[in-house]
Amino acid sequence: MISDDEIDRLLAAAKEAAARAYCPYSKFRVGAAVLTESGAIVAGCNVENASYGLTICAERNAVFRLVGSGERPEIRAVLIYTPTTTPTAPCGACRQVLNEFGPSCEVVCRCDGPDEIRTTLDKLLPSAFGPRNLS
Ligand code: THU
Repeated sequence: MISDDEIDRLLAAAKEAAARAYCPYSKFRVGAAVLTESGAIVAGCNVENASYGLTICAERNAVFRLVGSGERPEIRAVLIYTPTTTPTAPCGACRQVLNEFGPSCEVVCRCDGPDEIRTTLDKLLPSAFGPRNLS
């Protein structure tokens, strides 16, 4: 289980990332921050495109930045922040990408209201297809 202090640090990083979201089309800001087994935190925001289908979600941006940073990409937890009244769970594509590096990571979804979603990736993506299927 991640600690309250880790959640505070993930939330701060995800909020900073959400403030940098590029979302002129949906106006839906998302920030995501991942925590690795070594304690590193890497965040990402959603980046939209005039060719809508090329948009990348905040969660995938955070995972790709993590891998590119050279940290060992072993994800313990991901926190998703949206400046909304209800929390937002990761989309299906992001669940699949998170599964690659954190198949049983904790997932915390926060917003500006009192509600939160607190679960694990294996509950959000049961019977996942992953690296083991190819070995
Ligand atoms: N979005 C995310 O960043 N993460 C999700 O898990 C769901 C959707 C973004 C993509 C797009 O920029 C906007 O939210 C509306 O779909």
